[in-house]
Amino acid sequence: MTVRHFLQFSDFSREEIEYLFVRAHWIKQRFKRYEPYRPLTDRTLAMVFEKHSTRTRVSFEAGMMQLGGNAINLATRDTQLGRGEPIEDVARVITRMVDIVMIRTFEQSIIDRFAENSRVPVINGLTDEYHPCQILGDIFTYVEHRGSIGGRTVAWVGDSNNVCNTWLQAAELLDFRLHVASPEGYEIEAARAQCAGVHLQRFTDPNDAVRGADLVTTDVWTSMGFESETEERKHDFADFQVDAEMMALARPDALFMHCLPAHRGEEVTSEVIDGPHSVVWDEAENRLHAQKALLEYLLIGRVNPA
Ligand code: CP
Ligand code: NVA
Repeated sequence: MTVRHFLQFSDFSREEIEYLFVRAHWIKQRFKRYEPYRPLTDRTLAMVFEKHSTRTRVSFEAGMMQLGGNAINLATRDTQLGRGEPIEDVARVITRMVDIVMIRTFEQSIIDRFAENSRVPVINGLTDEYHPCQILGDIFTYVEHRGSIGGRTVAWVGDSNNVCNTWLQAAELLDFRLHVASPEGYEIEAARAQCAGVHLQRFTDPNDAVRGADLVTTDVWTSMGFESETEERKHDFADFQVDAEMMALARPDALFMHCLPAHRGEEVTSEVIDGPHSVVWDEAENRLHAQKALLEYLLIGRVNPA
């Protein structure tokens, strides 16, 4: 049987993603009622971190334990990966010992190579190109607050980065519109834009992207791995801050999301991220519930709701 992985959002069908939202809701409600649900007893998750993390680390580790399993945290510098052991060999070894792996790394090709040599499911915990678990949690949050995202408009303001690329895959899969406004030189890659067709509309003025949107979202100007460009980016992104004036152009009931960590005063003002449209804390919490549904699905498949 082929092993299923979650390396990109588009690895799953629309129907599978919608199933995960239903399961995430069920798992979340049960957790809130303090009712134990431990289908993953004796299962082990290995988490490989080649970049920093707070949310991804805590949500995967806590989630795995709450489901009855265990998690092992592997930071590059503490393992032989940090001394140059080939990723293929690491994959072959780790996946004989654990049941599932989550990796946060640099190029997507690294996680692809790991998955090719893995006996168990591999989850992308962020690469330079994608952050599928983030968008799983984000859209679950949208659904909780506003219902289905199909046919809605999401406005992305800022860097066409890993999170933006994943929003784009989600727009195609779940059939909503993505408005993207990025500074010159930081636009979405032409090949990606071409594939997205009608689901993507690009803007030079962020105000135009946000006008009439159901959800406004942004991210740091400098992603992990691009720190040497920080000063240049501060200059290039200066007109791409989500402030109250910009937010007022969206629908009156629009939500604001940010994957976090945020830099108040750069990509977003405190007024917006700490204001009435913002659901960033629900969004962060929902990483836990959405990923528990994902772990359950990859390890034991579909279950009938109790
Ligand atoms: N949003 C997110 O993935 O956060 P961390 O970098 O803290 O894991
Ligand atoms: N785009 C950011 C997301 C952090 C969760 C980064 O890659 O650093």
